Amino acid sequence: MARLDPHSYTESSQPLAKHVALTLYFDFAARTIHGSALLTLPAAHTGPLLLDTRSLLIHSVLDPRTTAPIPFSFPSDPTPDPVLGQPLCLSLSAQSAALVVFSTSPSSSALQWLSPAQTASKAQPFVYTQCQSIHARSLFPCQDTPAARLVFSARLNLPHPLTAVMAAARAAAPRDPVPGEAGSACPDALWCAAGRSVEEFIMDRPIPPYLFAFAAGDIAARDVGLRTRVHAEGGAALLDAAAREFAGAEEMIRAGEALFGPYEWGRFDLLVLPPSFPYGGMENPMMVFLTPTVIKGDASGAQVVAHELAHSWTGNLITNKTNEHFWLNEGFTTYAERRIVEVVQGEETAALNMGIGWRGLNDEMDRFKDNMEFTKLKPNLEGIDPDEIYSQVPYEKGFQFLWRIERQVGRPTFDVFLKKYIAKFKFQSIDTETFLEFLKANLPGIENQIDLKQWVEGTGIPPDAMEPLSSIYSKIVSLSNEFKLGNIPKKQEVANWSGQEWELYIENLPKSVEPSQIAALDAHYRLSESRDYEVKVAFLQLAISSGCKEYFGEVERTLKQVGRMKYLRPLYTALVQGNAEEAKLSARRIFAETRDTYHPIAQGVVESILAKHS
Ligand code: BES
Ligand code: ZN
Repeated sequence: MARLDPHSYTESSQPLAKHVALTLYFDFAARTIHGSALLTLPAAHTGPLLLDTRSLLIHSVLDPRTTAPIPFSFPSDPTPDPVLGQPLCLSLSAQSAALVVFSTSPSSSALQWLSPAQTASKAQPFVYTQCQSIHARSLFPCQDTPAARLVFSARLNLPHPLTAVMAAARAAAPRDPVPGEAGSACPDALWCAAGRSVEEFIMDRPIPPYLFAFAAGDIAARDVGLRTRVHAEGGAALLDAAAREFAGAEEMIRAGEALFGPYEWGRFDLLVLPPSFPYGGMENPMMVFLTPTVIKGDASGAQVVAHELAHSWTGNLITNKTNEHFWLNEGFTTYAERRIVEVVQGEETAALNMGIGWRGLNDEMDRFKDNMEFTKLKPNLEGIDPDEIYSQVPYEKGFQFLWRIERQVGRPTFDVFLKKYIAKFKFQSIDTETFLEFLKANLPGIENQIDLKQWVEGTGIPPDAMEPLSSIYSKIVSLSNEFKLGNIPKKQEVANWSGQEWELYIENLPKSVEPSQIAALDAHYRLSESRDYEVKVAFLQLAISSGCKEYFGEVERTLKQVGRMKYLRPLYTALVQGNAEEAKLSARRIFAETRDTYHPIAQGVVESILAKHS
C-alpha cells in the first residue's frame, strides 16, 4: 500500500474514479447540502477503495445497479487527521460504481455560506465553493488528489429565486424538480417542494477535483466578449463596472492562444464574488472566480484575469500531480501571465509585475529563514497543510526558473518548447521529474548549462536568478532608497503612477520606518485611502510595522471589508508581530468580531497567525 499524494488517502494500488454524478440539495437555513455522489471506476474492482472526506456525514453507500448496500468504514475513526480529514473506506466486490449518500456540515471548509446581510444586494443568501488545495473532500467524498482527473455531471436543487453557476457547461435551462430523480440523495418531499428548481451542468473534460466549483445566489450576468460573460451578485452597477474592467478578456484569450496553443475550454466566463472571497482569483475551468477588489476602475484587475486565464493552459490542461509540484501550476502560470500582460498591456507593465514578484520572492526568503524547506521549488510537504505554507515561492521561484531557461535558449526556441510541452501533456497530471525529462529531451544539453538540481531541489534563490531590471523598475527602486535618506518622491515623479508603481515603491521601502515619515508620505499621496487594495494594504502594513497607531482604525475597516487572504495575512501579522500589546489585543478583538464573515480557509489561516504570536 502506498499513497499517491501526501495530501490524500488515495492508494496507488486502487483504481481512480473517472466520472462522478452529483445530486445536491441546498438547505440555506441549515447551511447544509444533502447529496449523493455516484463514482464510476474504469473497471470492476474488488477490495477496499479509499476516499477522502472532511466534515461529511456519510449516510449510506449503495451499489447503483442493485441498490444493495456496499459496506464502508472510517479507518481513522474517531479522530480525523487535522490536515487530511477522514478516510472513508468502501469494500467493493466486483463493482465498478458506488453511490455515496452524504450531507455536508455547516463547517465544510470548501463552502462559504453568506447571510443576505453579507451580500452586496442584501436580499438573498449566497454560497460558493473554493476547493483548492484540499477542500473538495469537504463537499463530496472523492479521491481528492490532483493526480486523479474526472469528468462530472451535477444536478443542483435550489430555492426560488436563487440561481446557480458552475465551472462547467450548463446542460439544461433551470426547470421544475421531477419526483424520483434525486434517488437516495434527498426525499421527494424536499426535492419537489414548492418554490424549488433544478439546474444541471456537465464538465466533459477530465479535471482534478480541486477545480470543482459552483456558486448560488441572486446572480445576474452581462456579456463581455464572444466567449466571455461576467456573473455577479450585487446588482447592475457592479456588473457594469465589471464588464468594463474585463473588456479586454477576448484579446487576452487570443494572446494566450498565440503563445500556448488552442483555448480548450470553450467559454471563459468570470464570476465576481462577494468581498469575503479568500483569493484574488481562482482558475475554475470555464468560469474563473474573482475577488471584487480587482474591480478598481483602472483596468489593473487585468493582471489577475491574465493569471487565471493562463491557468487554462498551465494548471488546468497540465496539472501538478501533487501539491509538492505546485510550482508546475503557479510558476508556469506566473510566467505565462506575464507573457500575456506583455502582449496586451506592454513590456513596461510586465516589467513592473516582475519587479513586484522579485521583491515578494526575496521577502519570502526572510519569512522562511528558519524553515528553508519551503524555499525549495519542490518541497517535502508530508504532514504540512498547504494553506499554511502558501507563499510566493512556487510562483516567483518557478517564474525565475523558466525565465532562466528562456534566457539560456532564447525566446523563439523557448516558445516552441512551451507549445510542445503543453500539447504533449494536456489533460494529464505530471510531476517535476516528468517536466525535467521533457526539458532535457527537447532542449539537449540544457543540464550542462543550468544547474537544474539546484533550481529544483536547492533552498533559497539560485545565483543565476535575475533581478528584473528595467528603467521603470530601477527608477522606482531608487526612489524607495531615497526615502531612507528622508526624501519623499516629488509630485511630477509620481504623476502617472498607477497602483503597481506605488505597490513596488512601498514594498521596496524598509520594513519599518520613522512614524513621522509615514505620516508625511500619506499626507502627500493619501495611500491609506487608496481604492487599490494592493497599495492600501502595502501602506498599512508598513504603517503598523512602524508603530503608527493612528492607522489602527483604517486597518480595522479594511479587515472588516475584505476577506482576501493576501490582505488578511500581512495586516494581522503586522499587528501581532511587534511588541505593542495594544496592537495584539486589537488583532484578537477584530478577528473575534469578523471571524464569521471570513471564508473557513481564511479563518484557519488567521487563527494560525494569532496562535503563532500568542
Ligand atoms: N490557484 C491560485 C489560487 C490558490 C492557490 C487557491 C492555492 C488555493 C490554493 C490562483 O491562480 C492564484 O494564484 N491567485 C492569485 C492571483 C495573482 C497571482 C494574480 C491570488 O489569488 O492572489
Ligand atoms: Zn495561480
